[in-house]
Amino acid sequence: MPKVTFIEHDGTEHEIDAESDRSVMQAATDNLVPGIDGDCGGECSCATCHVIVSEEWTAKVGGPGDTEISLLDLAPEREEKSRLSCQIIMSDEFDGLVVHLPEFQM
Ligand code: FES
Repeated sequence: MPKVTFIEHDGTEHEIDAESDRSVMQAATDNLVPGIDGDCGGECSCATCHVIVSEEWTAKVGGPGDTEISLLDLAPEREEKSRLSCQIIMSDEFDGLVVHLPEFQM
């Protein structure tokens, strides 16, 4: 099972076993990672699943789609490497993925 690590703004780390073909948001909510609410259930319409992808993973994960960009534009603490975690689908290729949580989402 691929692993994903969520790092809270205070440095607290949560390493999670994520099921392939499910989103990073679902891995977080299934495991009660604080700061990822996923209010819209992954429909790309709430931005409560905002994460900042770690530097070493940004190229592999890729950038946001058009709808995602419109939502991220409204998100506090948007950064260049921001993504909505419901739009990142886990696979073995992403084993070891590291994402950071914005300070606003606690
Ligand atoms: S869960 Fe709502 S935009 Fe990701």
